Amino acid sequence: MENYQASPTRYQDSEQIYRRCGNSGVLLPKVSLGFWHNFGGNDPYDRSRAIACYAFDHGITHFDLANNYGPPYGSAEMTLGRIMDDDLRPYRDELFIATKAGYDMWPGPYGNWGSRKYLIASLDQSLRRMRLDYVDLFYSHRYDPLTPLEETLQALVDVVRQGKALYVGISRWPLHALEFAQRYLRHHDVPLLIYQGRLNMLDHAPITEGILPFCQNHGIGFISFSPLAQGLLTDRYLHGIPEGSRMTQGRFLKPDVLTPEMLNHLRQLNNEASAQGRTLAEHALRWILEQQGVTSVLVGASSTEQLERNLQCIRP
Ligand SMILES: NC(=O)c1ccc[n+]([C@@H]2O[C@H](COP(=O)([O-])OP(=O)(O)OC[C@H]3O[C@@H](n4cnc5c(N)ncnc54)[C@H](OP(=O)(O)O)[C@@H]3O)[C@@H](O)[C@H]2O)c1
Repeated sequence: MENYQASPTRYQDSEQIYRRCGNSGVLLPKVSLGFWHNFGGNDPYDRSRAIACYAFDHGITHFDLANNYGPPYGSAEMTLGRIMDDDLRPYRDELFIATKAGYDMWPGPYGNWGSRKYLIASLDQSLRRMRLDYVDLFYSHRYDPLTPLEETLQALVDVVRQGKALYVGISRWPLHALEFAQRYLRHHDVPLLIYQGRLNMLDHAPITEGILPFCQNHGIGFISFSPLAQGLLTDRYLHGIPEGSRMTQGRFLKPDVLTPEMLNHLRQLNNEASAQGRTLAEHALRWILEQQGVTSVLVGASSTEQLERNLQCIRP
């Protein structure tokens, strides 16, 4: 891909592609691209680059990263930095790039959880790896029960004041902490832009726990990670475990989830999808996008073909 030029038609379906994020000024694509897998130092760079450029060519302006995505840790951000230099730097203002800190990143007491020390150092490192001056969105990646919430949240406020992030978000915080965050951040004039949680056809926790209704009632966007349950909600595992699939890596998606009951359930969902002339992946993504208060589904993809198929869920 010499001299990449973004597709001139990338915004032609804007009305279908974008949704307002809560009551903010930001529009996000209904399908966003996650860099958790397939963008690490051990993944073929040309494939990662092709997926990112394919996404951008189709109006997918939001990329989601975290400090520890890889492996090794940090390498997904380095891949993004390389893609920026090779292809996307001229389009920086058309991109909405997020990163996070909250999980294990470097050794010792300051490389994990929710202290101000960790979050601010981590964002500085992320910016260097991604070769960016600022991120559009910085998240606390998880709730830390031992650090005062005020400390974590004030660090989020301060990175915005320092110009290192334009907006802030939280991921996987329980409802009581989300409520606190919403009040604290509003009071400090850095409103909470978005909550990132796992919502999919197999996991309704953000609805049953009240997270999604709270976001909706308070003008906070909601983005669903692992919307395809890491590939379970596609045709990937309906006929066994294919070579090269995430399940063969056995780290985050283990073969023991594929019980006979689960397979039955997936086949039923697949039948439901076929009856509507859709793939299971499309059906699963549409289901999430139909839930009140959802802004975007944050998909992963190990090929441009997967992403292409998943983008079908945006069609009217
Ligand atoms: N906040 C958090 O704590 C948190 C946690 C997890 C994820 N995330 C974010 O959410 C993003 C997405 O997570 P995820 O990768 O688990 O999402 P996902 O969309 O549920 O799963 C993506 C995987 O499913 C398979 N797949 C996708 N489309 C397919 C298709 N059309 N047909 C067949 N297989 C398909 C691929 O696996 P194969 O490799 O088998 O091809 C792909 O890598 C991450 O990149 C990250 O940005 C955040």
